[in-house]
Amino acid sequence: MKIGALKESFEGEARVAITPASTAHLQKLGHEVFVESGAGEAAGFSDDDYRKAGATVAETAGALIEAVDVVAKVRQPSESEIGEMREGQTLISFFYPAQNAELLEKAKQQGITAIAMDMVPRISRAQKMDALSSMANIAGYRSVIEAANNFGRFFTGQVTAAGKVPPAKILVVGAGVAGLAAIGTATSLGAQVYAFDVRPEVAEQIESMGAEFVYLDFEEQTKDGAETGGYAAPSSPEFREAQLKKFRELAPDMDVVITTALIPGRDAPVLWTKDMVEAMKKGSVIVDLAAEKGGNCELTVADQRVVTDNGVVVIGYTDFASRMGAQSSELYGNNVRHFMADLTPKKDGVIDHNMDDDVIRGATVAHDHDITFPPPKPKVAAIAAQKPKEKKKELTPEERRAQEIAAFKAETKSQVTLLAAGAILVLLVGLVAPASFMSHFIVFVLACFVGFRVIWNVAHSLHTPLMAITNAISSIIILGALMQIGSGSAWVLILAALAVLMAGVNIFGGFLVTRRMLAMFQKS
Ligand code: NAI
Repeated sequence: MKIGALKESFEGEARVAITPASTAHLQKLGHEVFVESGAGEAAGFSDDDYRKAGATVAETAGALIEAVDVVAKVRQPSESEIGEMREGQTLISFFYPAQNAELLEKAKQQGITAIAMDMVPRISRAQKMDALSSMANIAGYRSVIEAANNFGRFFTGQVTAAGKVPPAKILVVGAGVAGLAAIGTATSLGAQVYAFDVRPEVAEQIESMGAEFVYLDFEEQTKDGAETGGYAAPSSPEFREAQLKKFRELAPDMDVVITTALIPGRDAPVLWTKDMVEAMKKGSVIVDLAAEKGGNCELTVADQRVVTDNGVVVIGYTDFASRMGAQSSELYGNNVRHFMADLTPKKDGVIDHNMDDDVIRGATVAHDHDITFPPPKPKVAAIAAQKPKEKKKELTPEERRAQEIAAFKAETKSQVTLLAAGAILVLLVGLVAPASFMSHFIVFVLACFVGFRVIWNVAHSLHTPLMAITNAISSIIILGALMQIGSGSAWVLILAALAVLMAGVNIFGGFLVTRRMLAMFQKS
């Protein structure tokens, strides 16, 4: 089939749906690739780059639509773009069918198949096609860069001869894909990051990225995402009040606030109110990634950078992904070509629009003169978050002390029992074994005991590398085997040779695995 990317008609849009790199992948699926002249210009790809990759450059949008079977785009199509398409053609782009009923109707009338990249279900298999996530990731990263650009100070704390600089305090509201990307970027720039989300199960992710989860003193902390496919559900008015109260406490302290809170199919909840902005210091920055859906901050103006009377900068841009056109085109191009791979299972350039496939069915919003939105629930459940950890009850100092004493008593009891059992065992063995054996045996038992105690106290996060290295060291058993290899008995020789072989695998494997694991923590 022939697939072609249109030049984006939306003012200022820098992304493109097919890149020279994704051209090669599409060709491997058996497709012929077209691109409208200048489509990749804003993302840094010239027509010549496409030609070199083997694509055909069409001079106009009309010529491209005429030439291809599948039209690829980034932004939702305009009425006229759909109008130019013919029956049987496929369109693959963002579509937002819930908000664009008229476009959907038009697609149905035209008899085109519309694939909405924003409707790809969130199941593991579809992660590589999840364009919402890939764009949210970029927006999260860019929001921090934009904040840094507007903040007149360092993000990182410094102690210099000229004076001490405290780290910037950043609050990220909403720790979905964009929020987590913002947390990662902000912590890597050295800021002190706090984050809040209504889904308590993200607390662990936030903490593992070096940020602090802002807990509310509230029982509800809403439903876990499992019920809502990983997304948040609207919170109760009482919860919202508790949340706003916490934010009011934090506002005077925060230098940067990045809000990313969204609830699918609804306007963004207003979480950063006017009085919070007024409580912030002069020069603080708010970046509102929810601006397109009305904004999480009461003072956000979509697509604008406003400075409030008290000198707080409020950024409401809605084109963060487009501001990094090269990066976002590369990732979106990959999402599209992975979708095409699903549509071309035999890699023979023939599209099989299999409506029994969860991913294809979920993303198809118009097909065969029919509106196929909303789709039925996918057969596979969304990767939803794990069950939330039970919130620990705050203990009084007396309760904590009593708990520690009880734990100490229980541990001592189990140790005494273990020692008594060990002593009885040694005595029983001593009754029958020769004296020379007993001296070795006692050393062995003590070594096991000491080794166990040492390893038991190592932090859990270090267990795997520790196991690998102890594995390697313990394989020094090889020495024993080597000493036995010269023995006259054939059996002993065979067993010793086997022991040498297995211990050899253990030694080299252990060191290799340890090396690999440590490399994971090194920055290249
Ligand atoms: P989103 O863009 O709809 O929402 C952003 C964040 O705002 C969410 O974490 C949400 O809990 C939070 N939020 C909503 N109301 C809030 C409030 N009042 N206060 C504070 N925070 C609030 O969601 P996004 O980023 O697209 O994804 C959300 C989740 O979906 C992910 O964290 C993940 O669990 C799941 N997911 C699953 C994928 C897969 O299975 N393929 C791919 C991507 C995400």
